[in-house]
Amino acid sequence: MTTKPGPGAPLPTTLRAARAEHAALAADIARHDIAYHRNDAPTVSDAAYDDLKRRYLALEDAFPKLRESGSIADKVGAAPSEKFAKVKHAVPMLSLGNVFSDEEASEFVARVRRFLGLGDDAALEVTAEPKIDGLSCSLRYEKGRLVRAATRGDGFEGEDVTANVRTIGEIPQRLAGEAPDVLEVRGEVYMTHADFAALNARQEAAGERLFANPRNAAAGSLRQIDPEATRARPLHFFAYAWGEASALPAATQHGMIAAFAAFGLPTNSRTRICSGIAEMLAVYRGLEADRARLGYDIDGVVYKVDDLALQNRLGFVSRAPRWAVAHKFPAQQATTVLRDIEIQVGRTGALTPVARLDPVTVGGVVVQNATLHNEDEIARKDVRVGDTVILQRAGDVIPQILGVVVEKRPPESRPYVFPQVCPRCGSAAVREVDEKGDEDVVRRCTGGLICPAQAVERLKHFASRLAMDIEGLGDKQIEEFYEAGLIHTPADIFTLAESDRTSLKKIKDREGFGETSTRNLFAAIEARRKVPLNRFIYALGVRRIGETNARRLARHFHAFDALRAAALASNALEELTSIDGVGATVAETVVAFFREPHNEEALDALLAQVQPEPMEAVAATSPVAGKTVVFTGSLEKVTRDEAKAMAERLGAKVAGSVSKKTDLVVAGPGAGSKLAKASEFGIEVIDEDEWLRRVGP
Ligand code: IVH
Repeated sequence: MTTKPGPGAPLPTTLRAARAEHAALAADIARHDIAYHRNDAPTVSDAAYDDLKRRYLALEDAFPKLRESGSIADKVGAAPSEKFAKVKHAVPMLSLGNVFSDEEASEFVARVRRFLGLGDDAALEVTAEPKIDGLSCSLRYEKGRLVRAATRGDGFEGEDVTANVRTIGEIPQRLAGEAPDVLEVRGEVYMTHADFAALNARQEAAGERLFANPRNAAAGSLRQIDPEATRARPLHFFAYAWGEASALPAATQHGMIAAFAAFGLPTNSRTRICSGIAEMLAVYRGLEADRARLGYDIDGVVYKVDDLALQNRLGFVSRAPRWAVAHKFPAQQATTVLRDIEIQVGRTGALTPVARLDPVTVGGVVVQNATLHNEDEIARKDVRVGDTVILQRAGDVIPQILGVVVEKRPPESRPYVFPQVCPRCGSAAVREVDEKGDEDVVRRCTGGLICPAQAVERLKHFASRLAMDIEGLGDKQIEEFYEAGLIHTPADIFTLAESDRTSLKKIKDREGFGETSTRNLFAAIEARRKVPLNRFIYALGVRRIGETNARRLARHFHAFDALRAAALASNALEELTSIDGVGATVAETVVAFFREPHNEEALDALLAQVQPEPMEAVAATSPVAGKTVVFTGSLEKVTRDEAKAMAERLGAKVAGSVSKKTDLVVAGPGAGSKLAKASEFGIEVIDEDEWLRRVGP
C-alpha cells in the first residue's frame, strides 16, 4: 500500500518526491490494469482509476523528466492472457483521451480548430456517439468473410477470440453488399442489463461467482475457453471504428457507420452529427438523461471529427487520437470507507444490515448509506468495518456495495460478526428453518411485542395508507409519540385525545403540531373507528398477511370475530387452508398470532375502540382497480407472473405493450423501448418498490 495524495492535492515540489509518487502510481495503475483487463475483476471504481491516471499525467506534465524512464500512459490495457493465441493488430487499437466537464469538451473543439488552423466561421462537424461500456473487439473481414476476431489486449497485440465471436448471432459471418477486400471492423462487445441480471441469477443458482457489472460479464463471456460457453451468454456488438482497410466506403465518420450498417453490422442509433459544442453538449445531456433507459451501459459520449481527411491531418498523440475524445459521465461507481454496519429491525423482526459510509458522490448524488442485504451477503463479500468498499448506484435503486478493495483493508480489521441477539430488545435473533430444512436468509428478532423496534414498525404499518390510513399520523409522528410514551399499542392511538393534559401539551409543543394539526389528527383518528374488515386484518401486521391475504380472510369470514374464533378452534388449520390461496405456512402464522396471549390482550383493547365492518368492494379500495398496467424490465422482489397476478387480483388489467390507453408502467432494470414509449405518451412510470408500496406488501 502506498499513500497517495488525492487528485486535487498540490503537486510535489521536488523531482525526487515526484519520482517516488510517479513510481508508486505506476505500480498501482498496472495492478488495476491487470485486474480489470486480464482478470475481468476490477479492484477500484472507474472514477478512482481515472483519478490515479489524471494525477499520474499531471506529475508528468509538471516534471517531463519522469517520462524518460518510460510512461505507462503510452500503454493501453494489459498484455493478452496466455489462454488465447495472440494476434498482432495490423493497425494498433488505441485508447481515447477523457474529458470530464463541458469546459474540457469545449477545449477539445478549440484545440482541433487551432491545430487545423480553422477560422472562427469555418464549419467543423463532429459526431457524438454513445461510449459503450463493454470491451473493444476487432473483426477482420477478407473478401466479405469474417476471418479473425481479436480483443484489444495491450493495443498492439490482442487475444484471438474468433471461435467465440462466431457464436454472437448479431455479428455477420459474411458482410452484405460490396465490402472492401480487407476490412477490420472495430467496435464494442457488450451485454444488456436484462441479460446481465439473468446471467447473474443463473450464476448464483449454480453457486458460481457473480459478475460485478455487465462489462465484466461481457469480457468474461467473450473470453471463455470453450466457444460453446460463449454461445450460452447473450452478447451484442456495436461497430464504430475500423483498423486495416483496403479501401474505405465513405469519407466521413458518420458515412462509415452508415456503411457498416449497410454491410449488416449493428450500429448505434443514438449517434448524431453536431456542428458545434452546443449541439455536442446537447447530445451528451440527452444521453445522460436516457442512460438508465437504454438497456445497456454507457459511460460517456465520444466526440469524433467527422471528416476523415481532417482526422488524418490531426493524427495521434502517443496513445490516443487527436481527433476524438471521450466525454465521461459522472461516475455511477465510487469507492469510500465503510464506517459502521448498523442493524435495522423491521416490523416482522427482520434484522437488516445497513452500511454507514463516508459520504461520497455517486452519479451526482451524495450517498451515505447502502444496503448489505443480509448476513450471508456480508460473509460472501467479507465486508468489514473500516474497509474501503466499491459502491454502485444504478438509477434510483438503493446503492449497493459491489465489493471490497482488499489491499486497503486496515491490518487490525476482523470479519464482521452478525449479531445473534436483537440490537433493540436483546431477544434472541434466529434464522428459521423451513420444513425442507432450508435456513431462511433473514435473521429475525424473537422478541415480538416486547421489541420496541418491532412495536414502532407495527404502529407505523397500522396507521399507513393501505392499512388504517390515518391522515397526519405518519412515520415521524409515530416515532415521536412512541418515544414520548403516548402510544405503545394500536389501541393507544384511539385514546390519544383522552390523554392527560400534560401529554397533550407535549404533543402540541412539538414542532409542526399546533392547535390545528392536533385537532385534525384527532378528527382523522375518530374517522377510522369504523374500518373495512380487510383493512383491519391487514393493519394488524401479521407476518405473511399482506393486503391480498387479508382480503381473502375478510371475504371468507365476513366478521372479525368469526376469523378469531376459527383461528382458536381445534380445526383451525383445516378451515384456514380451505380458503383459496391460503397455504399451510400462512395458516400456521395466523393461528400462532391469535394464540399469542399478548396479542389477545392487544386485540381486545383495540376492538374496544374500533369496529371492523364488511369488506369494501375492490374498485373502491384498490389504487389500481380499472387501470391498465404494463410491466417492463426485470423485477427483483416478486416474479413477473406474481406481479401480474397481484395487479389482476386488485382489479387492474395487465397489458403487454404500452399504448395511449396505458395508465401505469412499472419499470425495472433493463427496461427499454416500453419505457421510452411511456415517457413519450406522458404515462406515469414507477419502480418496483413504489408498485409494491401501492398495492401492498
Ligand atoms: S473510438 C482510436 N468510439 O472506449 C479510437 N471507442 O476509452 C478508438 N468505446 O477502446 C475508439 N464506445 O473500447 C470509440 N463509440 C465509441 C466507443 C468507444 C466505446 C471504447 C473503446 C475504446 C475505449 C476508450
